[in-house]
Amino acid sequence: MDSFTISPFIADLPKVELHIHIEGTLQPALRWKLAQRNQVPLRWRDQEYNTFEELVESYHVTYNHRPEQGGRKDVPTFLEAYFAGCEVLLEEDDFYELAMEYLERCQDMNVRYVEPFFDIQAHTRRGVKAEDVLNGYARAQKDGVRKFGVHSNWIFCFLRDEPVEDGEKAYETARPWARIKGGKGLFHAVGLASNAYERPPSLFKRAFERARKDGLHTTTHCDFGQKDTHEHIRQAIFDLGVERIDHGLDVLDRDELIEGLLEKDIGLTLCPHAYHRRTATEVLFPKLRELLDEGVKFCINSDDPVYMHNVWIDGNMEKMMQYCKLTREEMVGLVRNSIDMSWAEDRVKKFIHAELDSIDVGIY
Ligand code: HPA
Ligand code: ZN
Repeated sequence: MDSFTISPFIADLPKVELHIHIEGTLQPALRWKLAQRNQVPLRWRDQEYNTFEELVESYHVTYNHRPEQGGRKDVPTFLEAYFAGCEVLLEEDDFYELAMEYLERCQDMNVRYVEPFFDIQAHTRRGVKAEDVLNGYARAQKDGVRKFGVHSNWIFCFLRDEPVEDGEKAYETARPWARIKGGKGLFHAVGLASNAYERPPSLFKRAFERARKDGLHTTTHCDFGQKDTHEHIRQAIFDLGVERIDHGLDVLDRDELIEGLLEKDIGLTLCPHAYHRRTATEVLFPKLRELLDEGVKFCINSDDPVYMHNVWIDGNMEKMMQYCKLTREEMVGLVRNSIDMSWAEDRVKKFIHAELDSIDVGIY
């Protein structure tokens, strides 16, 4: 599942990524380096990773279990692994290096523009200063364009399984780094991340209204197969009025949800490999095909590639193309969706559309 060959067509395709958590790009080598530099032990509960090899081995788990729903408890859940990874991130430079490593990889994968999610609370609750997180990313945002030609506008995430008021406070702290009048322009949107179990989007209605008043865009995770998934999607579309939904694949079960998406022109940021971890090929990919046929707008993304078998946006696109038997033209169409769904500046959008115009989608 993890060693998917990337075809030259997919490798060369100019790309846009709208659903990736920056902390989910922390690779074992950088995690190891930062652990040494910051003197942080590497572990999950009482399991310690004392050598680099042991650390690398720990990534081979398939995080497809949900303990709240009766899944196994002897290995970390995906989110536990992700937050354990965060423990090595302490100083501004750590956040900068994390982001620069990702943006450099974007250049290698021909990702031209990206809207990374970032957490504040995952770090401040460990004693890290919010300004160190924000300044590290803001510096990388600028250097990423200069050094790698990769443009980025970032998305602040509320941790939905923490008290709403804590998220609201985190937003106020981060606000001077937002794309608002007099702000530093790091982030231009807010989203909802972490564990959705019994944490419906409507809990964050006031927080989202505040961000919207600031002129920011809004999106929210509605995880595939999560408890109450249809109600979460309904709230996202009709109560919160978000502009995009992250995942949201379960819309297929309810005509009224599909109609809501089409009517309000809400697109889904999908991450096929994330679902493939817990869904059979012959179940998942026909669903994705069905979404296309229903005319639902969506784009292809990677979510947390390091914790998902190192499958990045190119691997996700490759899977989509092969398992859904999509033509080159259809793949280019999915990239155009990601441009249209993005909140990039018009000149960035035009530039990537123009690059796509010159791609040969003919006989092959
Ligand atoms: N889902 C929800 N929250 C997250 C994720 C995810 O995949 N990654 C980081 N925070
Ligand atoms: Zn996500």
